[in-house]
Amino acid sequence: MAGLLSCLSMGAQYDAIGGRYAGWKETPVPTYAEVPTVRRLLAGQVEGREVLDLACGTGYYSRKLKQWGAARVVGVDVSQAMIAEAREAEAREKAGIEYVLADAAALPVLGAFDLATAMYLLHYAETPEAMRDMCRNIAANLKSSGKLVALLPEPDYVLGKGETERYGFTYRLVAGDQDWMLVHADVHTDPPFSIEYRHWARRVFEDVLHAASFTDLRWHPFAVSPEGLAKFGEAYWQDFLANPVSTILTARLPGSSGR
Ligand SMILES: C[S@@+](CC[C@H](N)C(=O)[O-])C[C@H]1O[C@@H](n2cnc3c(N)ncnc32)[C@H](O)[C@@H]1O
Repeated sequence: MAGLLSCLSMGAQYDAIGGRYAGWKETPVPTYAEVPTVRRLLAGQVEGREVLDLACGTGYYSRKLKQWGAARVVGVDVSQAMIAEAREAEAREKAGIEYVLADAAALPVLGAFDLATAMYLLHYAETPEAMRDMCRNIAANLKSSGKLVALLPEPDYVLGKGETERYGFTYRLVAGDQDWMLVHADVHTDPPFSIEYRHWARRVFEDVLHAASFTDLRWHPFAVSPEGLAKFGEAYWQDFLANPVSTILTARLPGSSGR
């Protein structure tokens, strides 16, 4: 049985969430685990490069990519509300980021980018075929040897193992199948919000990326930064590290980079 929120298409949920999502990025997991891990993986990959930030939401990573030295950043999102928030932030503080309202599964060619980021995008595809279309469209927007960095729900996440309240969210299972688990997450930010999404099997992500010509697939677990360990102590992070909720997958197109 599908959940209440999953009556909406996966992406459409964010029209209702809008700016409330930004509160989540201020909590410990994104601040001290997700962002430092992304930053470490992108070291030397962003400076002076053209970056396509898919599922940019309110522009959180689009702005970070600019701060990390990208020459050009184009943010893409399917949600009108999220793109409106991103554009408002750009109007308040000009960073030179372009924001495009588009579905990644039907994305036109916007340029020949060095790097594509898909931070919490691919799992919102309703089917592996739609996910494959997203990946093909990403490939069509990359230069030869262009790189993809994708943040994803951890395929091996075990629902109910360990405590999540202290990290600011609670989970319950909505439905499951051989290749996915649909979860409902309540995020205890102020104001709070809820979201439903799938933890897809590792094989599904790998198959669709290979079908879209990506190669050199690598999984990178989150690590907690020294600041995060110092601030909260090792015991605080134990459950998160034993059963991480998200992970990172990198891939690249064939070709010699020359850089
Ligand atoms: C969890 S938010 C991630 C925002 C940002 N990347 C971050 O990490 O903070 C997921 C975003 O994916 C967007 N999204 C979902 N399906 C999409 C699709 N088919 N095409 C483009 N964006 C999509 C949603 O609108 C939402 O803004």
